[in-house]
Amino acid sequence: MKDAMTDAPSAEAMEAYWLPFTANRAFKAQPKIFSGADGMYYFTPDGRRILDGMAGLWCVNAGHNAPRIAAAIREQAGKLDYVSSFGMSHPLAFELARRIAAVAPEGLDHVFFVNSGSEAVDTALKIARAYHQARGDGRRIRLVGRAKGYHGMGFGGLSVAGISRHKRDFGPLLGEVDHLPHTHHPEHNAFSRGLPAWGAHLADELEAICAIQDPSTIAAVIVEPVTGSGGVLPPPVGYLERLRKICDRHGILLIFDEVITGFGRIGAPFGAQVLGVTPDIITCAKGMTNGAVPMGGVLVNRQVFDTFMDGPAEAPELMHGYTYSGHPLACAAGIAALDTYEQDGIFENTPKTASVWEDAAHALKDAPHVVDIRNIGLLAAIELAPRAGAGGTRAASVMQHCFDKGVLVRTAGDTLVLSPPLIITPDEIDRLFTTIREGLMSLN
Ligand SMILES: Cc1ncc(COP(=O)(O)O)c(C=O)c1O
Repeated sequence: MKDAMTDAPSAEAMEAYWLPFTANRAFKAQPKIFSGADGMYYFTPDGRRILDGMAGLWCVNAGHNAPRIAAAIREQAGKLDYVSSFGMSHPLAFELARRIAAVAPEGLDHVFFVNSGSEAVDTALKIARAYHQARGDGRRIRLVGRAKGYHGMGFGGLSVAGISRHKRDFGPLLGEVDHLPHTHHPEHNAFSRGLPAWGAHLADELEAICAIQDPSTIAAVIVEPVTGSGGVLPPPVGYLERLRKICDRHGILLIFDEVITGFGRIGAPFGAQVLGVTPDIITCAKGMTNGAVPMGGVLVNRQVFDTFMDGPAEAPELMHGYTYSGHPLACAAGIAALDTYEQDGIFENTPKTASVWEDAAHALKDAPHVVDIRNIGLLAAIELAPRAGAGGTRAASVMQHCFDKGVLVRTAGDTLVLSPPLIITPDEIDRLFTTIREGLMSLN
């Protein structure tokens, strides 16, 4: 008898499901199905163990099925399944907000709960505009994103994002948006370890945008402190500092989208702490619950929060929220995730593991087709020269080779992107990069 919960589904059983961001017909002809997971590994229905080089989708930072998190979700499900957050709440929501504020960068001490990174970004953009409105400066409506940026799939996030293929089919998007140039310059920075030395001046493009648009119309700038889905691009040395200065000069809010870099990915609870630049607003999700229950958050500084708390006390200060904001199961998972990160020393261990990671990644420099390697914390990108007229196929071949050998990696065009659970061991790091090398050697 087939077990519908763990066995690979038949072609007929797969028919009804429309998978996101997936070539559905190709997938259903050659499905990748996982039926279990533990720690660093996924398990397939036919009994294969797959080393997870992506932490799910940049989210399972403490490894799969982290016991405290699983137990907390189970317990909460039997206690309080749901309560609205509109005009009411439950104790765990306050506790999680308090715990996140305690590990967040200095001054970012209030948290608005949402259910995903996309919702976090759209919420942050709305908060930015509403903040200026509340200050009586309603002319500030323009938003500035950056080329190669990824900010989820809502219309707001898509508008400020910088990956054209994601936008092509869905216009018109928000109109009042400008974009900074990206920081991907292998001609200056190839094989940098950590932050590349060249490129701080690219932040000055914000001044150029201000010169064109009138800075008093700009509400906020949003960037990922480390561009993630666009190909893992650590910021050039001094770049974020310059962005911060220009924002301050013109009264523009700075938003860091930390959906990937939040919760330990680059070696501290938030990327802002590692990179030494504090934004006004942070968006987060993914590692917030270790990926176990959908949840996101928007952290705001005191000035932003206090501005909203200045109006009539009986009216909602922000006309925004979601049915599942602050969901009890998500809050239980979030608290248990923070317990796990803290009690297992995950935030402290990551910088140590990251130096092994950096050496292993850069050891691929002499492998065929490799034109750049980038890394920070437990993120890395191996960029390949594309095949003539067939961009993306080289990295896709390496990804398939790795999967056949029991290792899961991801691609962004012809770049292999890596983001393992932060519990990865040196032996597993070695296996991951050795398998990628074999895949590169087997390419034509
Ligand atoms: C930086 C960033 N922002 C936003 C998102 C969107 O998150 P979600 O897929 O949870 O909506 C992602 C997802 O990868 C992301 O990397």
